[in-house]
Amino acid sequence: MKSISIKLWGLMLALVFIALALIWCFQIVFLESFYFNIHERKLLTEGNHLVAMIKNNEEKYIIEEKLDELLLKYNARIDLYTPNGVEIYSSEAAPKMMGVDKNIFLMEVIKSKKPVSTFKENRMGSSLFLVGLPVIRDNVMTAAVIMTTPVASLEETVDTLKEQFVIISLILISVSAILAYVFSRYFTKPILEINKAAKTMAEGNLSIRVPVSTKDELGMLSSTINHLSSQLQKIEQLRKDLIANVSHEFKTPLSLIKGYAETMRDVENISEEKRYKQLNIIIEESDKLNHMINEILDLSQIQSDYYNLNRTDFSISDTIRAVVNRLAYHTENKNLRIEVDCMDALLIYADEKRIEQVIYNLLNNAINHSEQQSSIFIRAIDHGSVIVVEIEDHGEGISQEEIPYIWDRFYKAKEASAKHKGSGLGLAIVKSILEAHKANFGVESEIGKGSKFWFEIRKSA
Ligand SMILES: Nc1ncnc2c1ncn2[C@@H]1O[C@H](COP(=O)(O)OP(=O)(O)OP(=O)(O)O)[C@@H](O)[C@H]1O
Ligand SMILES: [Mg+2]
Repeated sequence: MKSISIKLWGLMLALVFIALALIWCFQIVFLESFYFNIHERKLLTEGNHLVAMIKNNEEKYIIEEKLDELLLKYNARIDLYTPNGVEIYSSEAAPKMMGVDKNIFLMEVIKSKKPVSTFKENRMGSSLFLVGLPVIRDNVMTAAVIMTTPVASLEETVDTLKEQFVIISLILISVSAILAYVFSRYFTKPILEINKAAKTMAEGNLSIRVPVSTKDELGMLSSTINHLSSQLQKIEQLRKDLIANVSHEFKTPLSLIKGYAETMRDVENISEEKRYKQLNIIIEESDKLNHMINEILDLSQIQSDYYNLNRTDFSISDTIRAVVNRLAYHTENKNLRIEVDCMDALLIYADEKRIEQVIYNLLNNAINHSEQQSSIFIRAIDHGSVIVVEIEDHGEGISQEEIPYIWDRFYKAKEASAKHKGSGLGLAIVKSILEAHKANFGVESEIGKGSKFWFEIRKSA
């Protein structure tokens, strides 16, 4: 398995190796050249200083002080020559020249008229570092300064460093291998847990939860997985409830149909009147089943279409009038008066068919729960960016305790269900449609006085 932990581990070790390689280069390979560059720079600076003093004709004792200082600081021997190679001054101190031919170097300085530096080895095999500087006044070379310093051999130092480097490398590699292993396990453990949880969920166990121990991205992922599983659990519960509700709702009409059909088959000598009554019950119950199936199909379609509204600009007033006309038969039956109060050109931006369904369900309820000869008001009120549609009846009303539940599927209020036999899906459909439109909606109702259902819908831009 090419797992993330192996990759992380490899990556961390690679970083350590790169760091070690860099240290090796700088500490061991380039150490010597670094050291000499720094040394040369220092001597050149000091030498230039000395040359400046000579050119300025400083007092003799000041120059001598400087020479002493250089001797103490760098163990440097200083010689001054004329351009012809005649020695003017020599500090006569260490280091021992022993066979180093200074004249060749002096000639180089005199010829090039520029600062020159070089290494020389004396007879004893120890190295000397020579820096030569010309003293130039008005383009004429008046003298040459030669500074000679002993340089410690770096070989031993490099050897010590090499040995140390090997030890440090061994320690560092083993420690970092262990640490990298621990870290990579630490980071991949939650991923493995999440993977396990997701697998369990896929197998159908939705009660599984991933422990959320950190607040980083992995912690966030764990919470998301937990959220997902609780949402799935809810959906699963809804599905079970729906099936239970549906079967329960279907039972009564089906048993009635079956019962009456059996009576008609088995009982002889039924009067014509009775037969007609029983057949009517069978037809009514079949209609009810048909109505319920249509509503269930509608609801499931709306819910699966949640994000798929077919929005257009249309006149809400036309829609309201169309619904009122569709329900005219029922209003006339009950002798109800329907008062529509809306301006003609109220354009809204919504799914026309769905909004018509909302108004239909609300008006249908108002008609079903109104007393004979009462009035129903439908208003569309312009509230600036939204239009509020109200459907108000003066029927039996809904008790405060029941109001929160009337939007649930299959919920039928106690008062009402005795008289009116609906399936309790109308308002669930209304709710789904309005939620899909992100519209506000609600109801105000009082027992005995009536109900006012309302919703807000966005106007056309
Ligand atoms: N205008 C109203 N006045 C009084 N009660 C109402 C009104 N509208 C709804 N209700 C109550 O809310 C319940 C749920 O209404 P909903 O429209 O969802 O179902 P239903 O009308 O019983 O059946 P259907 O699915 O045929 O519409 C009703 O059973 C009723 O008790
Ligand atoms: Mg209804």
